[in-house]
Amino acid sequence: MTGELSPIDKAKFVAAKRAAAFVEDGMRVGLGTGSTAAWLVRCLGERVREEGLSFKGVPTSTRTADLAREVGIEVITLEEARWLDLTIDGADEFDGELNLIKGGGGALLQEKIVATASDQMVVIADAAKEVETLGAFPLPVEVIRFGWTATQALLEEALVSMDVMNRDSTLRMNGDTPYLTDEGNFILDLHLTRIGDPRQMALILNQIPGIVENGLFIDICDRVVIGYADGRVETRDINAGTVEEHRMEFAEGDNLFRDI
Ligand code: A5P
Repeated sequence: MTGELSPIDKAKFVAAKRAAAFVEDGMRVGLGTGSTAAWLVRCLGERVREEGLSFKGVPTSTRTADLAREVGIEVITLEEARWLDLTIDGADEFDGELNLIKGGGGALLQEKIVATASDQMVVIADAAKEVETLGAFPLPVEVIRFGWTATQALLEEALVSMDVMNRDSTLRMNGDTPYLTDEGNFILDLHLTRIGDPRQMALILNQIPGIVENGLFIDICDRVVIGYADGRVETRDINAGTVEEHRMEFAEGDNLFRDI
């Protein structure tokens, strides 16, 4: 099946497959959202079915919960788990310090709550997600629906004093209606092009009433697993300062849709 995948999907798949090996029996694991995280969930489902791996998964969205159940993963809530051993999730951008932009898939709030309730957060990504400076990808900000235009005005005012290249914000749409998150909130996408001080921005944005959470993940990610279309995988550990390389084989048996 991997022969039919695009190069970018191959890269996502090998990163996900490598990170799926980090899950051990008895763990409570946060399961991210997005196309890379979906590969992870499929790889973990394969390990459950073929190796009898036994762990509990805490999904970060209804989409991920549905897929996890479909592939045979035992799903529990974060309330039930209380604390997690590991969270594995995708990212829209990551920089050299493993600071992230997340929320392209609209799940940033649950993703951030789950990631910060974990001993370890691992990001899985294709190499195109690595950037020198965050901000080319629009920064998602989850806002309460009540008075959202007032929140947007306050936000744009706050951006004036910040080190960014552009200051536009747009309400995320789903066809003709605003996109609604799993928590029933709206998302404003901030088109900043370059975020000079992501740490300061993350703090300032969350001071504005009406903003629930922003998509900057600062000092949350411990490791990034970067996949390449040729099967190479690089794992960087920001705490240990190590870089490991692996090569993942595309096996015929990697038909992760066939068994579902
Ligand atoms: C979901 O809300 C996001 O944070 C995703 O993790 C992020 O958008 C990466 O998605 P892909 O793996 O689909 O690129």
